Amino acid sequence: MTTLPSSRIPDPVDAPGIRWGVLAPGGIARDWAAALHARTASRVAAVGSRSLERAQAFAAEFGVERAHGSYESLVADSGIDAIYVASPHSEHHDHALLALSAGKPVLVEKAFTRNAVEATAVIEAARAQGLLAVEAMWTRFLPHIDVVRRCLEDELLGEVKAVEADHGQLLYPGGPQRLADPALAGGALLDLAIYPISFAHLALGAFTAVQATGTLAETGVDASETIAVTGPQGAIGTLSSTMLAKTPCSASISGTAARLEIDGWFYQPNTVRLLDPDDREIDRWETPSRQHGLAYEAAEFARLFADGKPESDLLPLDETLRIMHVLDEVRAQLGVTFPDEG
Ligand SMILES: NC(=O)c1ccc[n+]([C@@H]2O[C@H](COP(=O)([O-])OP(=O)(O)OC[C@H]3O[C@@H](n4cnc5c(N)ncnc54)[C@H](OP(=O)(O)O)[C@@H]3O)[C@@H](O)[C@H]2O)c1
Repeated sequence: MTTLPSSRIPDPVDAPGIRWGVLAPGGIARDWAAALHARTASRVAAVGSRSLERAQAFAAEFGVERAHGSYESLVADSGIDAIYVASPHSEHHDHALLALSAGKPVLVEKAFTRNAVEATAVIEAARAQGLLAVEAMWTRFLPHIDVVRRCLEDELLGEVKAVEADHGQLLYPGGPQRLADPALAGGALLDLAIYPISFAHLALGAFTAVQATGTLAETGVDASETIAVTGPQGAIGTLSSTMLAKTPCSASISGTAARLEIDGWFYQPNTVRLLDPDDREIDRWETPSRQHGLAYEAAEFARLFADGKPESDLLPLDETLRIMHVLDEVRAQLGVTFPDEG
């Protein structure tokens, strides 16, 4: 009987410890620092904010030695090995380049930048300086996604024919102001839809067609979208996202021999189920823990840093760039532009 493969992702606690600088101590930076300290040997050694008070508050909360009142001062800190860029999408390009120009490798929050032009500039700068750069699409580094990856590599599903994934959260109106603001490159696409898109990209490879339809919020950012994609072998992907309602957030990959399902919050540490074409469950893989999933991307980065590698095989920079092109295409079809977009 067919069984699911195991995950090859090591426990984050076994990764080498490195000294991080956190750039922009907002919401995700707090979750990330908590996961880092709980599940890895790495530590936040310094934090930089546009406000010294906010940097000091973060430093006190997480036991961080040095608080900087500017990002320039943070990236110049000689006591850190790498920078975690956790600012809004609109700022990723400038902040990643700031860190790279100071000789610091970067882990850049998703979406990597606002658009593919900006992503290309960051990737070229990292490569020119031989510095490690990784998009913090944390899902890619999680154990259950490696189970999915192995199923695809081993062709356990037969020929993949269809992928479905959705990501909806009730975030507008009334949610974080960042999401509603075109100037901060808000909207559902860069925050939420990027997860189903990245998942389908893992399953299908580079898309040959992208067709999007959706609705806009009053502020001009995208509120919801459905995205139909086609893979290089003709498989289809049906992806959707909204910031107007909580949706199941499930994902599936269907092949001629079997189907994989991740029920609910597919992008977080989760269970993977293998089903036959008659809907009988053949096997299931349970995640070792649902806590502190952000530790896995930090651990992958620390391993790459210790090994002197320039990027991650789990999410190569060329794939990050291809996904940025997909986001650009969807935005063009929806008619969404950001002010002063480079
Ligand atoms: N991996 C995940 O699960 C996950 C979850 C949520 C968000 N994210 C990603 O993380 C990034 C940040 O999201 P977040 O929710 O943490 O945002 P947030 O809570 O608003 O924090 C962003 C921080 O960026 C700094 N910043 C720099 N320039 C800014 C500007 N022009 N306007 C506003 N803030 C600015 C601010 O810190 P200072 O002013 O103190 O420097 C602010 O606290 C986004 O890329 C988002 O997609 C990832």
